Amino acid sequence: MTKSLNAIAQKLMEPGKGILAADESEGTIAKRFAKINLPNSLDLRRDYREMLFRSTGAMTNYISGVILTEETLEQSAADGTAFRAILADADVIPGIKVDRGAFPMPGDSGEKITEGLDGLRQRLARYAGLGAGFAKWRAVITINDIAPTRNNIRANAHSLARYAILCQEAGIVPVVEPEVVGDGEPGNHSMERCATVTGEVLENVFKELRLAGVDLSGMLLKPNMVLPGINSRERPSVQDVAKRTVEVLREHVPAAVPGIAFLSGGQTDEEATAHLSAMNQIGGKPWPLTFSYGRALQNVALRTWAGRRENFPQAQAAFTHRAHMNSLAALGTWTG
Ligand code: 13P
Repeated sequence: MTKSLNAIAQKLMEPGKGILAADESEGTIAKRFAKINLPNSLDLRRDYREMLFRSTGAMTNYISGVILTEETLEQSAADGTAFRAILADADVIPGIKVDRGAFPMPGDSGEKITEGLDGLRQRLARYAGLGAGFAKWRAVITINDIAPTRNNIRANAHSLARYAILCQEAGIVPVVEPEVVGDGEPGNHSMERCATVTGEVLENVFKELRLAGVDLSGMLLKPNMVLPGINSRERPSVQDVAKRTVEVLREHVPAAVPGIAFLSGGQTDEEATAHLSAMNQIGGKPWPLTFSYGRALQNVALRTWAGRRENFPQAQAAFTHRAHMNSLAALGTWTG
C-alpha cells in the first residue's frame, strides 16, 4: 500500500532533519563546476552526487530527503550501486525536480514563468514507479521597478497549483516552491519590499492550491526567507530576519501545512544556518521549520571535492559538518 501523503510529509519534517536539494539542472551544475574549473561531464556529475549520497553520517542523521534530477534518479554510483539503493540504505526519501525551468515571461517586465506541465501526469507516474516520494517545482518571482506584476504572480501560482494536484494524484508529495528571488538583478530592494511581495505571493499560491483541490496536509512549502536584495545596503540582524519571516508566514501559510523547508537563496552558509535557528527559537508556530538547502549545504563540499574521488573523505566531512549545523538549526539549538 502506498504511504499517505501526510505520512511522507511528516517523515520529511522529522525533527532535526531536513532536505538536501541536489537537483541542479545541467545549466546550473555547469555554472557551479565552471567556478572550480571543471567541465560538466556525466562522470563528474555522477561522482559529485555519489560523494554527497555516500556521506553516510550526514545522510542517516541529518537528511530526510534528497531532491534529484531525472538523470540522478535513474543513475548509479561508479561501482554500479543505484543511487536509489544508497539513499534507501540511509532511510532517505528520494524526491524529484519536475519543472523544466523558468523562462522569460512574455512582455518586458523581466519576469519568469516556470514550464513543465505538458506531459507531467505521465512523468509523475513514472517517477512514482521509480520510488520518488516527493517532488519539487520552483516558481521564480522577480523584484524590480515594475515587477512583480499581478499577471506573473497569478500565472506562477496557477502553475504551482496544477503541478501540486497532479503530484497528489500520483501519490507524490508536492514541495511547492515560490521563490521571491533576492540574489538576482537589480537586487536593491528593501527587506520590507521582500516581506510585502512574499506575502502577496503566498496569498495567491494558497488561493490557487485551494481552488485546485490540493490537500494542504499532503504538501510542503519551500519559501524564501524575508531578506533585503543582495545589492541593498540594508543589514538586518539575524533576529530581524527571523522575526519578519515568521510574521509573514504566520499571516499567509495555513496551519494545515505540515511543514516549511526553506531554500538558502545565495545566503552564506552561516547566515542560512543562523536564520533557521533563530526562527526555530520563536515559539507558537503552527508548522515545523527546516532546511531544503542547495548551495548552503554544498558550497564547501563542492570546493573540497574539486573533481577528485580521492578527496571524497574530506568533502564528505565538510558536507556532514554543514548538515549537522543545519540539523541543530532545525531544532533551534545552533549557537554558532
Ligand atoms: P539554494 O538553497 O541553493 O537556494 O537551492 C535550493 C533550491 O532547491 C532552489 O530551487
